[in-house]
Amino acid sequence: MEIGIDKIGFYTPDVFIDMEKLAEVRGVDPAKYTIGIGQEKQAVAPLSQDAVSMAANAALEVLDEEDREAIDFVLFGTESGVDHSKSGAVWVHHLTDIQKYARSVELKQACYSATAAIKMAMGHISLHPESKVLVLGTDIAKYGLNTGGEPTQGAGAVAMILSANPRILAIDTDSVSMTEDISDFWRPLHSDYAYVDGKFSNQAYLNFLTEVWNRYKEKSQRDLSDFEALCFHVPYTKMGKKALKALTENASEEDAARLMGYYEPSVFYNKQVGNIYTGSLYLSLLSLLEQGPELAENARIGLFSYGSGAVGEFFSGTVKPGYREHMLKEEHEALLSNRRELTIEEYENILQQALPKDETDVELDTQEAAAGTVVLSGVHSNVRNYTKK
Ligand code: COA
Repeated sequence: MEIGIDKIGFYTPDVFIDMEKLAEVRGVDPAKYTIGIGQEKQAVAPLSQDAVSMAANAALEVLDEEDREAIDFVLFGTESGVDHSKSGAVWVHHLTDIQKYARSVELKQACYSATAAIKMAMGHISLHPESKVLVLGTDIAKYGLNTGGEPTQGAGAVAMILSANPRILAIDTDSVSMTEDISDFWRPLHSDYAYVDGKFSNQAYLNFLTEVWNRYKEKSQRDLSDFEALCFHVPYTKMGKKALKALTENASEEDAARLMGYYEPSVFYNKQVGNIYTGSLYLSLLSLLEQGPELAENARIGLFSYGSGAVGEFFSGTVKPGYREHMLKEEHEALLSNRRELTIEEYENILQQALPKDETDVELDTQEAAAGTVVLSGVHSNVRNYTKK
């Protein structure tokens, strides 16, 4: 029985900044951000969009009544959790009207946890083939004003429905994961901003990639010639290029040219959104499937997931015939092109806003949210209130 991704939804807030304008204000050559880092635009999350509301919005894009009845497991992958106790999955389960006899939990391991969620979903569906699982990867990447990580911020969510006989990507069961206790990136409980040793995190990412790939090759008896395309965790798009270069360093000319040929479509959305942590690999997959040329039936895609701290995994999947009919290309292009550009001053104000860290009630401005969009409308008596506009 094949198990994999049956539907993919995506959401990003409706405001962004232009990276060239950020570079000008920071006194940096714009080419550093657009070429050196590889980012054109950066999504900005207003206070009314958090990990829960973004995940609900991504899920609402794809859920139909049949899915709501069949989903009995909601897995919420994030490193931007909003409560130490209650999982974001419970709110999303409610906001998206999924039938009540379901399990709902949150998973954390930096940018990796949506991949763990996919693996858990596959185990669950193999025992219960009639079940569907909602997997969410949702985050706000925030390093702070004037920091090295500032050009690699972003916000957004990817929602995937996993099922038997999937219509988009059947996921192979052989994969290699690896864990090592390192401090390349982390966010202590007291801080709204991530701490990162940028250069070390880049190197750790590449070390993990090389090690899991080499072991995957041995285990699966596959090599680069078995892959039509590769997708990577994309904290910023230049990192994806570095990863591709590392894997194709000793490849045949044919393999290197084929795999490099898919790089631009596989980062098209990431370039306009920025880092969405847990969802970044899956935004790259979505970008490849929607913005790349139509892939042949059963073409194999390799996927590398990396979450600082650190866990990495290399796995793969094959595209299903007719997968294009199940993609929401026009909706995603419209989502990105209908966004409003913020001035750098507006962005700076938003980035420094935070919900009260005490018991004060707060009412948030949700005026600009589009109809049907889930927003965080306020916090009252320490309870977060989400509403659908
Ligand atoms: N034109 C074109 N490219 C330029 C440039 C210019 N004027 N100026 C610099 N660059 C290039 C650099 O050569 C470098 O390219 P390389 O990485 O291929 O060598 C790139 O732009 C970045 O420059 P660098 O000086 O290394 O930037 P930085 O010290 O500001 O750090 C990050 C960049 C990515 C490390 C930093 O933004 C960061 O810490 N980000 C968050 C961490 C992260 O996402 N880690 C990923 C692993 S999960």
